[in-house]
Amino acid sequence: MENLAEKTRKDFPLFSEESNESNNLIYLDHAATSQKPTQVIEKLVHYYSFQNANVHRGAHQLSTKATEAFEEARNITGKFINAYSSREIIFTRNATEAINLVANSWGDSQLQERDEILLTLMEHHSNVVPWQLLAKRKGFKIRYVGITKDGELDMNDLRSKVNQKTKLISLLHISNTLGSCNPIEEISRIARNVGALVLLDACQSLAHLPINVNSLNIDFLAGSSHKLCGPTGCGFLWAKESILETMPPFLGGGEMIQDVSLYESSWADLPFKFEAGTPSIGEAIGMGAAITYLNSIGLDEIRKYEKELTKYLFHKLEKIEGINILGPRPTEINDRGALVTFYIDGIHSNDISELLDSNNICIRSGHHCCQPLHKYYGLNSTARASLSFTTTKDEIDLFIEALNTNIQFIKKNS
Ligand SMILES: Cc1ncc(COP(=O)(O)O)c(C=O)c1O
Repeated sequence: MENLAEKTRKDFPLFSEESNESNNLIYLDHAATSQKPTQVIEKLVHYYSFQNANVHRGAHQLSTKATEAFEEARNITGKFINAYSSREIIFTRNATEAINLVANSWGDSQLQERDEILLTLMEHHSNVVPWQLLAKRKGFKIRYVGITKDGELDMNDLRSKVNQKTKLISLLHISNTLGSCNPIEEISRIARNVGALVLLDACQSLAHLPINVNSLNIDFLAGSSHKLCGPTGCGFLWAKESILETMPPFLGGGEMIQDVSLYESSWADLPFKFEAGTPSIGEAIGMGAAITYLNSIGLDEIRKYEKELTKYLFHKLEKIEGINILGPRPTEINDRGALVTFYIDGIHSNDISELLDSNNICIRSGHHCCQPLHKYYGLNSTARASLSFTTTKDEIDLFIEALNTNIQFIKKNS
């Protein structure tokens, strides 16, 4: 039977045999950004060719077409995560902006000096720095939940740090470095006990497993289009309508107002209250096409295939002498993300990624925007191979073979 990669690779121009640009690249950097299928590229080209106009403004037919396509993308995005209403979907530039929106609107209006918020040691900088900036202004305390020796979130530590002062638990779903998948439903239950809200950074999970904001029982979710086969320049915030209604605007300007006088303004209804200025119209429509594409493959299918592939990669990697792998071992029951981060004793991860690049294999090296996590492990830099439903076992074999050869080469020459 055809596997998922065989079925889907033809959709991606980069992987096509005629692609002169790609040099038969083996792309193992999907966690940094995903590749784009023809369905998304064509939707973008179609929008810019035939539907391009500003949204919600013009009285003319082209503006109506653009607005309909843009709002359709909002509906698709809402349904994707089982939002109650598309009014709960705010388009942003990326997930980082979505988190900044929550910090600067909800956080700025709700958090006070006596309050605490909980983050985790595995957060991406985009879920650390906005809270640090706000904490400097408002004086509340940021506390961090630690990690077990297996690279999972330490739930005992989390339980011990949640108290009546906790107003928010803001954390990622799947770690872009450890690959661990956090038990969000359980964390939400713990948060509810003290009346705290939960913000989920779903950047590394949205394209890899089905997500239902109701069963996760969360309050905010941040996502980026470019991580789910969509264009860059677009992301979204989902939040419960009842919470969004109480939040003041984040950015001010056109589109987000109802009425403007010289010294006062009133705000547009949801979701427009939070969408100041001309949005990334084509990119939001492209994100809608990407979600439709992922739905057509099926998130359950994707999860099943990537799980198998991650296990394959993990077990091949762990046989390499001197390798250290971060994060939990993949098991039948954990939803470990489709990525493996590692370092080799005595070798800088940049040397590894540069040599692999000369073999036309793309992986990531560095701190992956997780410096607190790297500092915790006493590391400056690690290497990361990340997969998608388009990745084949042959590609993994070639990567492992090249990695072994490069390690021997570096050892011989150092
Ligand atoms: C877990 C996680 N959170 C947040 C982000 C930030 O995404 P963006 O740069 O698209 O805002 C990333 C991107 O790598 C990520 O992996």
